[in-house]
Parts: sequence; C-alpha cells; structure tokens
Amino acid sequence: MFKNILLYAFVLQFGLKVVVSASLFNSSVCVDPPGFDSCWNTATADAISLFKDHCTNGTCTDVDDCFSPDETCAKAATCVAYAEWISCALDHCWNRVYNCEYQHLAIRAMRNCPIADQLPPHIPPPAGAPGTCSCGIGFVFAEHLKMNKPGVGEVFQCTNTVDSLQAAGTCEPNCANEEKICQCCADSSATSTFFNTCPTTDPGDIFFFADLGYDHLVSSECSSSLGASPNCTAKPYNFTLSPGPASNNQFFDAATLPKNGTDPLTNNPGGLATPVSGAVFTWSLYEGAVVTANATITTWTGAGATTLPGNTGTVTSTSAATGTTSASSSSTAKSGGQRNTQISGLAFAGSSVLALALYFV
Ligand SMILES: *[C@@H]1O[C@H](CO)[C@@H](O)[C@H](O)[C@H]1NC(C)=O
Ligand SMILES: *[C@@H]1O[C@H](CO)[C@@H](O)[C@H](O)[C@H]1NC(C)=O
Ligand SMILES: *[C@@H]1O[C@H](CO)[C@@H](O)[C@H](O)[C@H]1NC(C)=O
Ligand SMILES: *[C@@H]1O[C@H](CO)[C@@H](O)[C@H](O)[C@H]1NC(C)=O
Ligand SMILES: *[C@@H]1O[C@H](CO)[C@@H](O)[C@H](O)[C@H]1NC(C)=O
Ligand SMILES: *[C@@H]1O[C@H](CO)[C@@H](O)[C@H](O)[C@H]1NC(C)=O
Repeated sequence: MFKNILLYAFVLQFGLKVVVSASLFNSSVCVDPPGFDSCWNTATADAISLFKDHCTNGTCTDVDDCFSPDETCAKAATCVAYAEWISCALDHCWNRVYNCEYQHLAIRAMRNCPIADQLPPHIPPPAGAPGTCSCGIGFVFAEHLKMNKPGVGEVFQCTNTVDSLQAAGTCEPNCANEEKICQCCADSSATSTFFNTCPTTDPGDIFFFADLGYDHLVSSECSSSLGASPNCTAKPYNFTLSPGPASNNQFFDAATLPKNGTDPLTNNPGGLATPVSGAVFTWSLYEGAVVTANATITTWTGAGATTLPGNTGTVTSTSAATGTTSASSSSTAKSGGQRNTQISGLAFAGSSVLALALYFV
C-alpha cells in the first residue's frame, strides 16, 4: 500500500551514510519537509540500532516491519521506535495527521508495540476534519480494539455471560455453540464496521484487514453457528455496532457481506492550519513513557489549510478504546542532537544515532 508515495532517501548524517529509509510519508505535503525527513531517517536508524542492541526475537527494518513479542525488547526498542516515528509526524507533519499515512502509522504502533495501552494522538479523526483518509481506518481499528479490550470489551462480556449461563446450566441451545457465536459476532462486528465505514475501499489496501476476522466470519463454523438469521445484539451476546458514515449499519454474515470495494486509499484535500492540540503537548503510547510533541513551525498555509474549531492547548490520549492508564511524569529528557522530541521514561541522550543511551524511570 502507499506504493506510489514510498519515499526512498539516502541521507548523509553525522558524516555517515545511513541506511536507506522507506518512509510512509511523502514529506512534500508536510509543514516542515526537511525537518520531517531528517527526523524520520534518524528515527529509522535509531530503531534499527536499538533493536540490534536490545533484541533477540523479532525484526525491525523499517516502520512497517518492526515487531518483537519479547516485552524487554519492546520496551527498549520497538515501542521507543514507534514513539519516535510518531513524534516526527507530530513535530513536522502535524498538518496531515488525519491523512491515511499518519493513521496507518498510529495503527502500526498500537499493533506492533505489545505494551501499547493508549491510542496515539489524532486517531481516529474528528468528524469534518480536513485531509482525512478516504477510509476511516483509524476508526475501524479503534473500534476493533475497543471490542476486544481485555476484561471489559464486548467479546469478554459475551464470553463471560455465556460462561455464567453454563455454570447455571441455562444455555440455549447449547453452550459450546454460544461461545462460538460470541467470536463469530465479534468477527461480524469488526468486519461489518469496516464495510459500513469504507464500503468502496479495497480491503486488500488495509494492512490490518485480517485482524478483523473476515476469514473466520465467512468460514463454515460461523455460518453454522450464526444460523440463518444471526442476531448479535440479542441476549446473551449483546454486541453493539458502531455506526459508520455509510448508511448500511448492520451485522453482516457470509451470506450478506457486501462485495469488496475496489478503491485505493487516498487522502481528501486540505490539512490543518495550526496544530490541533497546540504546538507543545504530551502524549503516551504506554504507561510510564511520556512523549512531548514540539512543533517549531506552527502555521501551515498550503491549499485547503483549515483551522478546526475548539483548538485546545493540550491533549491527553484518553481513548475509550484503550483504557484509562495515564502517565504522569513530566519530561526531563535532554534533547538529542537535532531532535526536538523528548521522551521521558525512555530518554534519548545521544548526539549521534550510533550512541543512544536509555534511562528507565
Ligand atoms: C511527493 O509529492 C510531490 C508533490 O505531489 C511529487 O511531485 C513527488 O513526486 C512525490 N514524491 C514521491 C517520492 O512520490
Ligand atoms: C525468543 O523466541 C523463542 C521461541 O519463540 C523463545 O523460546 C524465547 O524465550 C524468546 N526469547 C525471548 C528473549 O523472548
Ligand atoms: C475481499 O478482500 C479480502 C482481503 O483482500 C480477501 O481476503 C477476500 O477474499 C475478498 N473477498 C472476495 C469475496 O473477493
Ligand atoms: C435482535 O435482538 C434485539 C434485542 O433482543 C431486538 O431488539 C431486535 O429486534 C432483534 N433483531 C432481529 C432482526 O431479530
Ligand atoms: C449490554 O451492553 C450494554 C452496553 O454495551 C450494557 O449497558 C448492558 O448492561 C449489557 N446488557 C447485558 C444483559 O449484558
Ligand atoms: C521546543 O523546541 C525548541 C527548539 O528546539 C526548544 O527551544 C524548546 O525548549 C522546546 N520546548 C519544549 C517544551 O520542549
């Protein structure tokens, strides 16, 4: 995806030829293209270097390929890398945070950082935001996370209810099937949210489409569990479907799923005239790591520049999707080299990408 805007750049930094970096973003649309490119290339070099130093399992070669199931590695490398990549966008491309590219990056971070417990800023975009992605991928992914949230999401509630019915011996028609229905309804809910929200988009363009459970939903297991007229909103399943912008808000099954769309992801015109959360604000991807966004260029006047009403000075990443954890420490990190980004909890102190030091609080 985004193959038309992949940007391959060799950069000379610190007198060294650094790795080839494939950026998601075509920085020409950013408020600060050189700042973005320099930041992004540093972030990618940092990611590779941190991974080399701290990780034995997984992979990290660029923003679309940086994951390890190992929590120690995640804390020291992959999650730090995603925080840095996001920071580049917040500091130097804040005018385009509703574009597909930033939403894609934020979703990658949630998906590839196994300890992520808070949505990055600006995902999903508010209604009527300028320069939104043609498909609300941020919304679709956030709804999927919310539904699957451990201990509270609808999947947990459904399974929990069926378990108590089983304990009381009151399942109808049978508990094994009802447990299956919980998962099939979850797959229907997530897949339907995509089709309701992005009816014309090619699912093949959505890198996390498989996460939504499409294959299971169309399998014979779900067809037979859900029966002829599935009702996922009924007791004991009790799923709700978040209304998308499309009119067709329903739980689809194998028989009723609409045809796949064929449109690629594209960005609607326009962008933010000023940083929507203020030039400086803090955010966290996971508990204990506070990142300070710091935009030094604070106005963008390109085509379609729009000021959203109700700009606030600060934002706290408090998505219902990902919980209530909040980090409270303030930033004490030294700015590293050319970077404005400050990450406390995980503090960058190196003046070169090759000499990074990490301090844990
Ligand atoms: C980035 O966008 C500009 C302006 O649309 C275009 O001229 C340029 O070719 C693009 N670069 C890449 C690498 O796609
Ligand atoms: C790496 O993966 C292997 C196989 O999955 C596992 O046995 C090992 O514990 C992992 N190492 C770390 C540090 O997580
Ligand atoms: C719809 O797209 C998905 C993702 O590319 C694919 O797995 C599936 O087979 C497609 N369905 C149909 C009916 O073509
Ligand atoms: C599904 O169940 C809900 C809640 O019990 C009910 O209000 C609704 O009418 C049912 N829909 C269908 C199509 O049976
Ligand atoms: C069904 O879900 C709603 C909101 O998601 C909740 O308020 C209600 O208590 C649930 N009902 C049951 C029977 O679990
Ligand atoms: C933001 O960056 C500028 C320029 O590098 C710096 O002078 C300022 O102290 C930074 N502000 C914060 C709050 O980090």
